[in-house]
This record gives sequence, structure tokens and C-alpha cells, in this order.
Amino acid sequence: MIEIKGLVVRYKTVEFKFDDYKFKKNMISIISGRNGTGKTTLLKSLSSLIEYEGNIKVNGEITYNSQEPILFNRSTYENIVYPLRIRNLDLNLYKEKIDKYTRVLSIDHLLNENALKLSSGEKMKVSIIRSIIFNPDIVLLDEPTTHLDLESIVELTTLIKELKNELTFIIVSHNSSFVEELKDEEYRLGGNHVYS
Ligand SMILES: Nc1ncnc2c1ncn2[C@@H]1O[C@H](COP(=O)(O)OP(=O)(O)OP(=O)(O)O)[C@@H](O)[C@H]1O
Ligand SMILES: [Mg+2]
Repeated sequence: MIEIKGLVVRYKTVEFKFDDYKFKKNMISIISGRNGTGKTTLLKSLSSLIEYEGNIKVNGEITYNSQEPILFNRSTYENIVYPLRIRNLDLNLYKEKIDKYTRVLSIDHLLNENALKLSSGEKMKVSIIRSIIFNPDIVLLDEPTTHLDLESIVELTTLIKELKNELTFIIVSHNSSFVEELKDEEYRLGGNHVYS
């Protein structure tokens, strides 16, 4: 669960005021709004990546998957297990999950490839798996379908639906069929930002 109250983010020339809202547990919440309405800004403030005023109450461990994922100069496998390594978790216990997620998203053949050589869509898939592999409570996905082909979007939809009982998803997406397939709740942005 995440609750926002009186949340305001100020940049040099623009200020965003977000309506109070409660993102519920084990729900898929979609954040919608036109370009520049502050969707990424909201996700970054929820995951404490930027400064904000007001209150954000987060129940559980949160993970943010960027619109432009950054991968390390290591294999796909090493990128995926990074969150496990830094938590000193036993990688063997996650083998099945890694196999399953990489198979569902059709990147299982790329586990030994250098992640920097992957295509944009493949990189996004690696990044998504990396952000869910360690069982976080809340997963923020910023435009996860941007570089994905139609089949991959269906695969990602299947994976998210399967994980819905264990994880809470907050997703920014402009892809209407993806949104319709997944949406439990919608938080719409627009109108509450002022340029000076
Ligand atoms: N660090 C920053 N400094 C100054 N202005 C910023 C900063 N980050 C974002 N902005 C401005 O705030 C506005 C909202 O940006 P944001 O990335 O949150 O929009 P968005 O809704 O995610 O858009 P898109 O749909 O294009 O991804 C933009 O106009 C951008 O120029
Ligand atoms: Mg954005």
C-alpha cells in the first residue's frame, strides 16, 4: 500500500501538485496522463529518487523500473541476480524463478550474453525481471511496453497477471490494450501543474 497526501514536486520552472490517493495492495494501478503531466515525476517521488514536499507512506519494499533502464556491463544473468547478490540471498533458491521469468519473456537464450549488447526491448525485459526477482512488495513500472513487440506485450501481461497476488503494481503506460487488460484502478494526471 502507498498513500500520498499533499504531495508537491517543484522543478525550476514547473510545479506538480498530486491529488491525495491510496494505491491499494495487490492491485494494478495505472497512472495515466499526457506527456509531461508528471507521471515519471510521481514514480520517482514514490521511490524517493527525487525531493518532494508532503507525505508519502509506503508499506513494504518498493522497486522502480525506469522508462530508460540502465544495465551493467555484465551478462544478462548477472544483471538479473544483482538485487539478490546485494541482499546476500542464496542464488540457488531463485534458479527456478529466473528460468521461468526469462522463459515467459523469451530472453532465456540471452542469459550469458552481455546485457549492453541486447536490443532495447530485451534490455527492458532484463530490467523488469531484475526489479521483481527479489520479491519486493510494490513494483513501479514506467512505460514498460515502449520497446516491446506485440507478442512480448502479451507475455509481459501474462507475467504481471500471474504475479498480481503477490505484488502490488503501479504502472505508467500509454498502451491502451495493455492498460485495459491489466487495470484495476486508474490515477489520472493532468491539470494540476503550473508553469512559471
Ligand atoms: N529534473 C528535472 N528538472 C526540471 N524539470 C523537470 C525535471 N524532470 C522533469 N521535469 C519536467 O517536468 C515535466 C514532467 O516530466 P515527467 O518526466 O514527469 O513527465 P511524464 O508525464 O512522465 O511524461 P512522458 O509521458 O513524456 O514520459 C516535463 O515537462 C519535464 O520537463
Ligand atoms: Mg515519463
